[in-house]
Amino acid sequence: MKCKQLLVKGKAKSVYSTDVKDTLIIEFRDDITAFDGGKKDILSNKGNYNAEVSAFFFQYLGRNGVRTHFSTMLDPHHMVVRKLEMIPLEVIVRNIAAGSLVRNYPFREGTLLDPPLIVIDYKDDTRHDPMLNDEIIIALKLATPAELKKIKKMALEVNRLLGALLAAQGITLVDFKIEFGRRGKMVYLGDEISMDSMRLWDKTTGESLDKDVYRFEKGDVMAIYQKVAERITAPIKDLI
Ligand SMILES: Nc1ncnc2c1ncn2[C@@H]1O[C@H](COP(=O)(O)OP(=O)(O)OP(=O)(O)O)[C@@H](O)[C@H]1O
Ligand SMILES: [Mg+2]
Repeated sequence: MKCKQLLVKGKAKSVYSTDVKDTLIIEFRDDITAFDGGKKDILSNKGNYNAEVSAFFFQYLGRNGVRTHFSTMLDPHHMVVRKLEMIPLEVIVRNIAAGSLVRNYPFREGTLLDPPLIVIDYKDDTRHDPMLNDEIIIALKLATPAELKKIKKMALEVNRLLGALLAAQGITLVDFKIEFGRRGKMVYLGDEISMDSMRLWDKTTGESLDKDVYRFEKGDVMAIYQKVAERITAPIKDLI
């Protein structure tokens, strides 16, 4: 299978059409951005680490009954996926208060959120991804009420599954952002689940193991991405 035409060049990934029907290739590039694109860099191998972790999670979620777009990896940074009609929502699940939740609301960083919070933002960079509520989502016809219900159920299931897997590696899943797409009446988990889209803390040291290292210059970003990717995917390597 080959990349045919560049369809979308996002901030960190490029999406290509292919010669196979309903099938796309996502290239995980080495670009890293933060603060709405205000901070950018190119970090060698970053695309590979994120692609590896995403592929690992999609396969794990798929085995556990979550419908995802993942098909296979062509090479370390090209992922073959099912083409989806993307739903322009950023679905964020939060287990512990951190980041924008602490900046915008009177939560103390580190507070356990039980049950987890689902926050949904409008995926629109020109509007700086404003937070939505169910009524706005329905009024804007971004998703149907049935899709929204399904999306929330899937988001909590992804949280449960990822939280358990990461906990076994000594990592706390603080929060993460996922995107969904549709094919007919079916909702699929799309896009990526990587160190760029999760907030992870080491259970013992509290050390950041995600893009916060880049955002707030907390250390060697690539050394940490490499270590985390190894730690997360370790069980599968042990099985091979
Ligand atoms: N299965 C899929 N079918 C079609 N489009 C997809 C699929 N999975 C992901 N996409 C889209 O591919 C693009 C990936 O781009 P990327 O994540 O680099 O940038 P972005 O989403 O514009 O920016 P950011 O993630 O930084 O907000 C997004 O537009 C995403 O919605
Ligand atoms: Mg994106």
